[in-house]
Amino acid sequence: MIYITGDLHNTIDMKSLSIKKLRNYCYWQQSSHEKITNLIILGDFGLPWCDCAVDEEGIHPTDKQDKYLLNWLNQKPFTILAVMGNHENYNMIEKLPEVEMFGNRTLKVSKNIFFLKRGHFYNIEGKSFLVLGGAESQDKEFRKLNVSYWEQELMSDEEEISCLKRIEEHGTQVDYILSHTGPIEGISLVESSCDDPKYRELYRKDKAVRFNDKINEIMTYKKWFFGHWHTSWGYDNRKTSKFIPLYYAGIVLE
Ligand SMILES: [Fe+2]
Repeated sequence: MIYITGDLHNTIDMKSLSIKKLRNYCYWQQSSHEKITNLIILGDFGLPWCDCAVDEEGIHPTDKQDKYLLNWLNQKPFTILAVMGNHENYNMIEKLPEVEMFGNRTLKVSKNIFFLKRGHFYNIEGKSFLVLGGAESQDKEFRKLNVSYWEQELMSDEEEISCLKRIEEHGTQVDYILSHTGPIEGISLVESSCDDPKYRELYRKDKAVRFNDKINEIMTYKKWFFGHWHTSWGYDNRKTSKFIPLYYAGIVLE
């Protein structure tokens, strides 16, 4: 069973993955947390956050917090799959070993933790996913390049072109889309200022939003899950909405 939840931000939002939260959200969806086999984080996973050694087994953190989080996640009885957000150490992500999974390649963080690549299709437990990712950090002036924000937080033009080529090959139909920020149609459900065309264009200054909009025009899908906006509006509206923004809440896909 797949469980999808929002941003983790390294240790900051660990409670999203606590037994209590998983048990409750699964129970409220008539399921059991014990059935979770793959848990998806919708970006801002935040591990690794600090630079460290990498080999074919994944990362070997020396930073106390990264080490603690890795150890805690390693004890989870399921696989953790992370979409890439804006708050990720992309210099480290680029060093991670690729492993074949779900009909494609993932990037190995550790024995049960992997990043899903941006712009790629995956087949997880019989369901098809198009994975996007990234967003533009709005607080860069308070952050330091290559320490707390990374230029690769946005998909490059080349990555976007490759994604569109893959869509051409795969076809425009998919079960689910996963991303960090949303397309404007999804964002406008949680940001009422989007109703004003002036603000709408402001949100679309983010290259990731503009690319998501393009994908939204091209693709046919059941639901689009995204994080970034730190709201679980999507959980409350899961039965009726096509767009599911999530934070602490989780959605079960059986
Ligand atoms: Fe976030």
